[in-house]
Amino acid sequence: MKSGPKSKAMFQRAKGVMPCGTSSNFRYWGDDETLVVKRAKGAYLWDQDGKKYIDYRLGFGPVILGHACTSVIEKVKEALEIGNVFAMTNEYEISVGEKIKKLTGVDLVRYANSGTEATMHAIRIARAYTGRNKVLKFEGHYHGFHDYTLWNTYPPIPGAGYRRSPVLVAHGSGIPSIVGQLIISIPFNDEELLEKKVKENWGDIACIIVEPLMGNTASIMPRKGFLGYIRKLCDQYGIVMLMDEIKTGFRIAKGGAQEYFNVKADLVAYGKALGNGFPLAAIGGKKEIMGEIGPLMIPHGGTYAGNVVATSAADATLDEIMTGALDKVKQHGGKLMKGLREILQKRGIPAVVQGPSSMFGIIFSEKDEVIEYRDWSSSDHDTYEKVILKLFEKGVMPDKDSREPWFISASHSDSDADYVIGAFEEAVREVI
Ligand SMILES: Cc1ncc(COP(=O)(O)O)c(C=O)c1O
Repeated sequence: MKSGPKSKAMFQRAKGVMPCGTSSNFRYWGDDETLVVKRAKGAYLWDQDGKKYIDYRLGFGPVILGHACTSVIEKVKEALEIGNVFAMTNEYEISVGEKIKKLTGVDLVRYANSGTEATMHAIRIARAYTGRNKVLKFEGHYHGFHDYTLWNTYPPIPGAGYRRSPVLVAHGSGIPSIVGQLIISIPFNDEELLEKKVKENWGDIACIIVEPLMGNTASIMPRKGFLGYIRKLCDQYGIVMLMDEIKTGFRIAKGGAQEYFNVKADLVAYGKALGNGFPLAAIGGKKEIMGEIGPLMIPHGGTYAGNVVATSAADATLDEIMTGALDKVKQHGGKLMKGLREILQKRGIPAVVQGPSSMFGIIFSEKDEVIEYRDWSSSDHDTYEKVILKLFEKGVMPDKDSREPWFISASHSDSDADYVIGAFEEAVREVI
């Protein structure tokens, strides 16, 4: 879909100040297609030309309550009266930490400003704690923009080799190849391969970092028992299990993926929904490990870590999470998943609609079971993108990249769901 004249003009200005006119490579959709936002409220977003969209991107997931949520905004306004950054402990940090502990069961937390920072710090903590350097990660899992894990994130297939002996591929230029020596990457959901790699390398492996479900590859779910198997191997070989809950935390359940899948990690990274989109992230974990952070022990810090703006926003957000916001999210997502699945089935289009209702993915694939990045890679994402571009025209905006789940907020209404199901049916008819 081509952007309107005002978006286009604004985008030209943007290109004058930012490479590709965006602050992130993931946001560039093409010179004629990249929209510029005017504003957003609740479940809706307006572009510069005044076109309204029901938003299912939600800023890549954080906006769990809805855009410009009144209770969050009010709390932030109130908090701003006391100042916004002290680089000293403040009351909101404590309150948010207490709520995170209550909801997730972690013993201690430290704050950061983005998911990238949180996973970067968590990896360092795991390395320090174990005295080992290597990180085992899974293909198609994304953990942020630092060099440590930007390997086999979305590797070209067959460039990444045969699945049982993958070739390590950096996500792009500028990532030192020497860092790759510290990475072991394998496909998700393969217990046998995981066991083999762990047995071969355990003395070097500090942590296994895992997205509990593939929040960056169409919400592909873990096979039954797979996360528990990671837990078991980590216990057996003294490896830190590091769950990356940046997308799943405070979204798929109050206690995140640890609750949803009933598996306890050693360290957990949170972000996104924690602050309803205000830039707060956290590393949580067991006291035995987190308690080793400190001067002359394990380094961690940051000027803005725990600042008043972000922590006050999280304080209000977690109150809403604790008092039932996720019920609305689940209900809306469940209705959409059912409706979209029925349309695809009725028209005989081979597809899977998968994941938790708060962040589900759709893959156009003939396969009965979609369990790893390579299954997504061989799926028909071009057709998916065409369907989504038709949805854009009809004022519905999930991400057009089928790796991005449909994110649901507590502000999406039942009538939104009815409209979206109707629009999806039309879009599918028009494209396929
Ligand atoms: C699972 C996961 N980890 C880490 C990150 C990085 O978070 P941020 O973009 O806040 O740095 C993301 C971002 O999408 C993510 O999905």
